[in-house]
Amino acid sequence: MSNLYNSYILVVDDNDDNLELIEDFLDDEGYENIICVTGARDAYDVLSEKGIDLIILDIMMPDIDGLEACEYIKTHPDYKDIPIIIATAKADLDTLKAGFEAGASDYVRKPITNDIELLARVKNALTLKCQVDYIKNINESLDDKIKDEIDKNHKKDLLMQEQTKLAEMGEMVGSIAHQWRQPLNALSINIQNLEDDFEEGLIDKIFIDNFIQKNTDIINFMSHTIDDFRNFFRIDKEKIDFSVLESIENVVNIQDAVLKNYNINLEIIGDDFIINGFKNEFSQVVMNLINNAKDALVENKIDDAKIVVELSNNKITIINNGVGIDEDIIDRIFEPYFTTKEQGKGTGMGLYMSKMIIENNMNGKIDVKNIDNGVSFEISLKSVDS
Ligand SMILES: Nc1ncnc2c1ncn2[C@@H]1O[C@H](COP(=O)(O)OP(=O)(O)OP(=O)(O)O)[C@@H](O)[C@H]1O
Ligand SMILES: [Mg+2]
Repeated sequence: MSNLYNSYILVVDDNDDNLELIEDFLDDEGYENIICVTGARDAYDVLSEKGIDLIILDIMMPDIDGLEACEYIKTHPDYKDIPIIIATAKADLDTLKAGFEAGASDYVRKPITNDIELLARVKNALTLKCQVDYIKNINESLDDKIKDEIDKNHKKDLLMQEQTKLAEMGEMVGSIAHQWRQPLNALSINIQNLEDDFEEGLIDKIFIDNFIQKNTDIINFMSHTIDDFRNFFRIDKEKIDFSVLESIENVVNIQDAVLKNYNINLEIIGDDFIINGFKNEFSQVVMNLINNAKDALVENKIDDAKIVVELSNNKITIINNGVGIDEDIIDRIFEPYFTTKEQGKGTGMGLYMSKMIIENNMNGKIDVKNIDNGVSFEISLKSVDS
């Protein structure tokens, strides 16, 4: 109802004179929508068809009396909030009590001789109903807004989860692609060398066995790489004790052909130690460092090119001779996508990934420094014994 006088008022009385009287009073006051019926059943029909704002209900009626009707209306889920004013000739306390117990909110006494009492009570009841409706509307729209917001937040959460997943997948695929470049390179060189080896008469049963073994190792390494980076973001990965030397040798075997191809000599010195962590991820780091050293040696056309991997005191140092790293950029080389290599030759992800693996996943430290006649990368880890 937009104003009180538009309210729908249902008047129920078995006596036509009473109905007419009440209707006249309301009409004179300016109420525009008054519906009069002579019994409870007709009243129920009206209720089911129209949104009623107030009921004025006679108590003494044949068939269904006012108290019963009042009770029915007040227990009906659709009508229970409609205020009811009971009109009763029996202004005794018991009838009033029963009326209020049945759910009436007010009463008028019969016979209705003047409009004062009726109009005052009608106005009060409608004003209250109006305010209750207003608050109900606010509550409903608040409820809707809250539901909308919860819905929106839920959708946002899902979207963010989706985006995080996609970003992680992108990073995973990028990492695998990055780490496949070296073994793919090695496979390609091994295959290319096959013809020369044949022409030189080197191919016999032992050669074939070696060839199969060597390339199967590379393929296995590539296969592990997929698992390594698929599990990279999992926090429940299992750390294991492993020999640092063994892990380095695995990588060196893979890069062997490539290093030979460029006449680079690789030497491993020092004493092995055992660490606890992720063996394959550690191998990926060693591969990146050896590959970077190889790239630097090749790029600077270093004669007598050498890579030395030294193990001592829980440290792994990978040194290559040649030209050092420009001091202007040395602090930036661990940043993602930082590269000095030309497009297609470097992504700048190698050292960033290596730092993540060593420092975030294995609690270690990786550092770089220029040394006399070359570059030294140092990885410090906690050995199992220390
Ligand atoms: N041993 C090294 N000697 C000289 N410069 C190096 C050496 N190792 C790394 N760098 C420098 O650090 C940069 C970053 O190395 P990083 O491995 O992160 O990326 P990248 O080798 O350029 O590309 P990719 O990620 O594809 O391997 C290199 O571009 C290079 O300039
Ligand atoms: Mg690199």
